[in-house]
Amino acid sequence: MSSYIRAIRLVNFRNYRDAAVSLAPGLNVVVGDNAQGKTNLLESLAFTATGSSPRTPNDSEVVRWGAEFARTEMRVVAGGRERAVAVGYAPGQKKRLSVDGVRRDSLARYAAGEAGVRVVNFFPDDIRVVKGAPADRREFLDGILSSLRPAYARAAADYARAVQHRNQLLRRIRDGISSRRTLSTWDRRVVELGLQLLRGREAAIGPLGEMFSDALRALYGSQKAGMRYSHSVTPEAYAEALREAHESDIERGRTSVGPHRDDFTLLLGGVDLTTYGSQGQQRLATLALKFAAREYVREVTGEDPVLLMDDVMSELDERRREYVAGYFMESSQAVVTTTNREYFSPQVLKRARVVRVAGGSVIQEPDQKAG
Ligand SMILES: Nc1ncnc2c1ncn2[C@@H]1O[C@H](COP(=O)(O)OP(=O)(O)OP(=O)(O)O)[C@@H](O)[C@H]1O
Ligand SMILES: [Mg+2]
Repeated sequence: MSSYIRAIRLVNFRNYRDAAVSLAPGLNVVVGDNAQGKTNLLESLAFTATGSSPRTPNDSEVVRWGAEFARTEMRVVAGGRERAVAVGYAPGQKKRLSVDGVRRDSLARYAAGEAGVRVVNFFPDDIRVVKGAPADRREFLDGILSSLRPAYARAAADYARAVQHRNQLLRRIRDGISSRRTLSTWDRRVVELGLQLLRGREAAIGPLGEMFSDALRALYGSQKAGMRYSHSVTPEAYAEALREAHESDIERGRTSVGPHRDDFTLLLGGVDLTTYGSQGQQRLATLALKFAAREYVREVTGEDPVLLMDDVMSELDERRREYVAGYFMESSQAVVTTTNREYFSPQVLKRARVVRVAGGSVIQEPDQKAG
């Protein structure tokens, strides 16, 4: 059986002063009115599983207003054994990550599975992966790859820094402060790291595209969907292209080719969903991307990641709600928020764990399922 989250405790996390939630394998439904803490609870699960919030790069946002620190503790069942993971953060201090009481120093390693459980999350705002800028799509792809391999996460971070350095140097050359002599050294560094990203993305995009196509077909209908990576430069031509771009890069003060300029296109029936998709098509495509991410993580690790799905039902019609509820019940664990429990049929609710949140407090409902 795949890993799952058995329980979480939140101390000074967002609007929770001190709350505990116990979760079950299979479907968990978090019900509550607007602004009660549903999204915050989901965020805390991702925060604890990966060491970072999927909603903000700024950790101090998760600290309850007026509090000095935030802390989450989670019990994870992995490989038939329970482990205790915890994340603590106080503004101005280094974030503390621990597994079974032992400090973990590398956020990249922690995020790539040390907590014992991987998550795939969906927040309504994620529609920007389909609708938004290339950077949003790159972030999606890099996020999946980083959650699978800490080496990828490190390469991505080092690459971003190397490009920044190169850009700085380009501007200094333009302004007559630096000579061109060290530029080729930075070119080599950028290419070496950039190739790691290109190879990682190249290996993922094929299977991910097929999984996206299958997921969108199930959600939307029979049209063929796909995913196509668009290179600013191919791996083979990379080093050469960077050299050839010296003059124009110096003029612009930035690096014009490489994986930080790439994108991928999402197609439905041959049409680019980013440019031409309707709101509904873009929403379903976002969900299909998340389902594809789940399949991909499962294929690579052999483990079903936990699905954290924020307010996904409200955007779907009844037939699709039914399909999605079935999908969640079949996954090893899904935590789904909703303002309206009637989005789930009584048969589904009978087999689910229901948690009510109100004003930062949690009310666990007794399980209806027998045994
Ligand atoms: N750091 C924080 N400290 C205290 N409260 C916060 C913090 N960050 C957000 N909140 C508040 O927590 C409340 C609950 O937010 P949350 O996003 O979880 O609501 P929700 O139940 O998902 O509502 P909706 O149905 O509208 O999406 C909001 O009123 C929000 O302003
Ligand atoms: Mg919400």
